[in-house]
Amino acid sequence: MNFHTRKWVKPEDLNPNGTLFGGSLLRWIDEEAAIYAIVQLGNQRVVTKYISEINFVSASRQGDIIELGITATEFGRTSITLTCEVRNKITRKSILTVEKMVFVNLGDDGLPAPHGRTEIKYVKDQFQEDGIKD
Ligand SMILES: CC(C)(COP(=O)(O)OP(=O)(O)OC[C@H]1O[C@@H](n2cnc3c(N)ncnc32)[C@H](O)[C@@H]1OP(=O)(O)O)[C@@H](O)C(=O)NCCC(=O)NCCS
Repeated sequence: MNFHTRKWVKPEDLNPNGTLFGGSLLRWIDEEAAIYAIVQLGNQRVVTKYISEINFVSASRQGDIIELGITATEFGRTSITLTCEVRNKITRKSILTVEKMVFVNLGDDGLPAPHGRTEIKYVKDQFQEDGIKD
């Protein structure tokens, strides 16, 4: 799993208890996972279909730097299934896990459309496909 995205926990992200608000974290995760799905499926019309149980493992506090890790676990016909972990960048302590997030690839008509993808594509492979040499 690659932890590409870092976030700096700021006052506006906190709950009244002074720790990271779950809703802020879920917003970041949904956006990050959607971007991952868009890049993997090569289509901007992708929607969140399903999010499994979310386990808030430990709290995060103001000033913490956290990182979001996402990877694809399954490519369906019109869907892609992802798994996610959020951890403290410095201590590596787990903050949250989401076992399963399903995104659906949509066609121009807004209905599920086959995406034709079967495996994870890495950025360097995408550049090579586009004819750009590294
Ligand atoms: C996404 C949507 C178009 C799918 O419609 P649908 O009638 O469920 O479509 P299908 O039954 O053809 O299923 C599409 C894919 O989702 C998968 N899927 C459907 N329900 C699922 C569920 N509860 N859990 C996991 N996967 C599911 C199907 O297995 C299928 O994947 P596959 O083609 O890879 O096998 C429709 O449910 C929708 O518009 N939902 C709202 C999406 C939304 O607004 N999200 C929040 C904002 S982004």
